[in-house]
Amino acid sequence: MMNTMRSGSAQACEDIQDPEGFSIEDEKFDLIYPAQIRKLSSIFWTPVAVAAAAAKLLVTAPSLRVLDIGCGPGKFCLVASSLTDGRFTGVEQRSELVAAARQAATDLHLSDIEFLHGNVMDVAFAEYDAFYLFNPFEENMHSGYKIDGAIPLSPALFKTYTAHVSTQLGTKPLGTRVVTYAGYADDIPSCYDCESTLFSDDLKLWIKNREFELDIERLKLGVSRSHRGTNGWHRPRN
Ligand SMILES: C[S@@+](CC[C@H](N)C(=O)[O-])C[C@H]1O[C@@H](n2cnc3c(N)ncnc32)[C@H](O)[C@@H]1O
Repeated sequence: MMNTMRSGSAQACEDIQDPEGFSIEDEKFDLIYPAQIRKLSSIFWTPVAVAAAAAKLLVTAPSLRVLDIGCGPGKFCLVASSLTDGRFTGVEQRSELVAAARQAATDLHLSDIEFLHGNVMDVAFAEYDAFYLFNPFEENMHSGYKIDGAIPLSPALFKTYTAHVSTQLGTKPLGTRVVTYAGYADDIPSCYDCESTLFSDDLKLWIKNREFELDIERLKLGVSRSHRGTNGWHRPRN
């Protein structure tokens, strides 16, 4: 379907979206990025339609503070900030992607948006009300699907990052919202329930409904991947 869409006229394809969410709208949006970053988009950055839906699920009150964990060049934050009155922060450990995100925010004249260069391990979760994750740590588990060789990757880091995020999300108040796109949702502690899904179950809204119990989470991570996602890691599209 992707090839058919791209070979047809741009006008005719304007409102068409393929089943995985990547569309001609994304090809237009991604022009804001340098070519090297743009070419990674269909695999690693959230499609515009998905970002719009995720933003609506997360921003339930004006000025709500949303953290994108592993924001890449900021595509989710940029789309979400332009469509809602939430305040968006992205944290990203690759400096080149942070620079692209900041430049794009300037080019789009967006305020209420910021990009932090750093590791999620150093972020104060207390400063945020809601969270977005598009498979931030999955690269550690799939040596074939890498953005670049700029950062250390390993299954041990996957486990460290996932356990940290899970524990941090566990500390948030009841009612906290988290949206995940694709993946196995290993970073979502079991005190959160999946309340709704979109995009063939790839986009999930999770809400904290119970108190966090660290012992239960340790058991889950110690045994295996949770497999709570329906689709898991996407193969790269051509
Ligand atoms: C699949 S991309 C998603 C990008 C963005 N959230 C989006 O939806 O368009 C995951 C990003 O997480 C970043 N990342 C991975 N581990 C990280 C960590 N420990 N701290 C900060 N960023 C991290 C990667 O560099 C990558 O840019």
